[in-house]
Amino acid sequence: MVVLKSFFLIILILSIFKNSLAQHITKCDSTTTFTVANQVSTVNWPETGNRNTFCTYIFKAPHNHFFKASISYNLAGTAPACSNNQYVAVSIDNMPNWEGYTRLCGTVPKTSPQVFQSIANELKIGIASNDFTKYVNITIESLPVHQGNCDCSWNPKTRIINGVDAGKNEFIAHVGFKAKVGSFDQSFCGGTIITPHHAITAAHCIVNIHKTYGMANVIMRAGSQNITAPLASDTVYAEEYKLIEAVHHEKYNNPQNANDIGIVKTSTYIRFTRGVGPACLPFSYKGYQVPNNTPLTAVGFGSTEFALDAAYDTNSWILKKVVLYSNSSLAKDCTSEVICTIGPKTGYTRGDSCTRDSGGPVYAYMKNRYFDFGVISRGIDCGGVNSYSYNMYIVSYFDWINTKTSNAFLCNLS
Ligand SMILES: *[C@@H]1O[C@H](CO)[C@@H](O)[C@H](O)[C@H]1NC(C)=O
Ligand SMILES: *[C@@H]1O[C@H](CO)[C@@H](O)[C@H](O)[C@H]1NC(C)=O
Ligand SMILES: *[C@@H]1O[C@H](CO)[C@@H](O)[C@H](O)[C@H]1NC(C)=O
Repeated sequence: MVVLKSFFLIILILSIFKNSLAQHITKCDSTTTFTVANQVSTVNWPETGNRNTFCTYIFKAPHNHFFKASISYNLAGTAPACSNNQYVAVSIDNMPNWEGYTRLCGTVPKTSPQVFQSIANELKIGIASNDFTKYVNITIESLPVHQGNCDCSWNPKTRIINGVDAGKNEFIAHVGFKAKVGSFDQSFCGGTIITPHHAITAAHCIVNIHKTYGMANVIMRAGSQNITAPLASDTVYAEEYKLIEAVHHEKYNNPQNANDIGIVKTSTYIRFTRGVGPACLPFSYKGYQVPNNTPLTAVGFGSTEFALDAAYDTNSWILKKVVLYSNSSLAKDCTSEVICTIGPKTGYTRGDSCTRDSGGPVYAYMKNRYFDFGVISRGIDCGGVNSYSYNMYIVSYFDWINTKTSNAFLCNLS
């Protein structure tokens, strides 16, 4: 017993030692995988084994971790400042092709470190230089995501530093579900990412998923702007995921059309980037009822009547948004589990969510972010003069969401 105890003590001491000891990376073009929080790595370029003129260091950590990288450097001297062969490149989401990276350069040494924080659990740093008399020192630490530092519904525009495609990916949490069955290859519903593994949708979107499409034929596309476009010609952030689980509310359709809410689980983790991430959920609104006339933004790839903006081609399957207004007097089944919405009041009769938008979000915009308040369920007289729509009120389903995501981490942005 004593032997066993000291054995574990040694293991414990060793693992504490291992985690506190900075791992020194000397290999150019390397990927370092962190396994726990508060692990530290350092790079002191050009003290690397091989002397490439462009060295890449990729860092990866488990999900619900992020990186803090401190970079001090001196690359000034032989080449003009910020030339194409004297800089440090930082990609805070490890995008292929370095999409939206930040370039560090300058004529004076930066001895006080520049600090970068990754979007999620991947970060990439490149060093372009052939002047091996200069230096770049990097210290990088993995940190756990917790309620105090989590992020959601971020704005890619403010996160894209060298702005490419800034106008797209406004709704980082939006996903479209597509099924390929014979000649049918279209988006049939929307959804909203809430964890690196889960998206929320409508029950009616998934209740017959096995029968109608077969789970293996369904894909979930995140980061999309044009859901019909081939993945390669969609946005740079677009990625597709297969599903391994689709659960709908146990009391879906009881009474009729009630509890139209469901959750899907992806087979692999959803890669969070500047253009893809989780929605904010309004945890602090438990027990709150949305007052009439609250503006809510519905988002979807859906059919014809969605867009108010005539510039949108109604058949283009481009992601659209429309502002709807809550009104609980529209029908008697606008209950505490449902937000009923109508289109904008003056000037338009259109403005509604339609069939294929089902499962997608209705957002309230607060604190410069979109908070997911509702799941688009169904509409009455889609886009017509007297049309209105039903949205499942997320706040009434928090306990259910927690259970069905196995209490996965959900960002409670306060
Ligand atoms: C960079 O790292 C080297 C090697 O550890 C060290 O000698 C040097 O002082 C560091 N420079 C800065 C500015 O941190
Ligand atoms: C969306 O993608 C489809 C299929 O590639 C294409 O025909 C259509 O023009 C695209 N729409 C826009 C607005 O780019
Ligand atoms: C809400 O809907 C009811 C019933 O259609 C209507 O009488 C009322 O004016 C609406 N309220 C608002 C604020 O739009």
